[in-house]
Amino acid sequence: MAVEKTLVLVKPDGVRKHICGEIISRFERKGLALHAVKMVNVSVELAKKHYGEHEGKPFFQSLIDFITSGPVLAMVIEGNNAVAAVRQINGATDPLKAAPGSIRGDFGTCIDENIVHASDAPETAAREIGLWFPELSD
Ligand code: PPS
Repeated sequence: MAVEKTLVLVKPDGVRKHICGEIISRFERKGLALHAVKMVNVSVELAKKHYGEHEGKPFFQSLIDFITSGPVLAMVIEGNNAVAAVRQINGATDPLKAAPGSIRGDFGTCIDENIVHASDAPETAAREIGLWFPELSD
């Protein structure tokens, strides 16, 4: 059993829809724990670092514009197999392909506003947690 930490962002559309509590509740009901949480007004610099691997893709600029368009709820979620468990709860990247009952399946309607982000692997999680929560590594 692997106890992991993963980074989750409730993106500006999720904050605007007032579903942060609902989203946190879904992780907690699965048995995962909130390790850290904060609201962030995302700078273009942080956004570009976070999405650096997608630079050059056609949707890169819209990713940056969207994640900087309003406050984001950033959190570190901890628990058994947290990376995979969170991604299962979030659902497929495209809300139209995400299963009903998942966060994106229940609350999203298009890929460019898909409610949540979560790290895709433990190594990515370590990098993203360092980026969004540098105070945790002090
Ligand atoms: S890729 O190309 O397979 O690496 O892309 P993917 O890992 O599926 O997605 C990377 C992030 O880009 C977002 N995304 C998009 N945004 C806007 N428009 C389009 N067409 C689009 N396709 C993918 C996707 O939501 C991922 O962001 P996060 O924050 O990780 O959800």
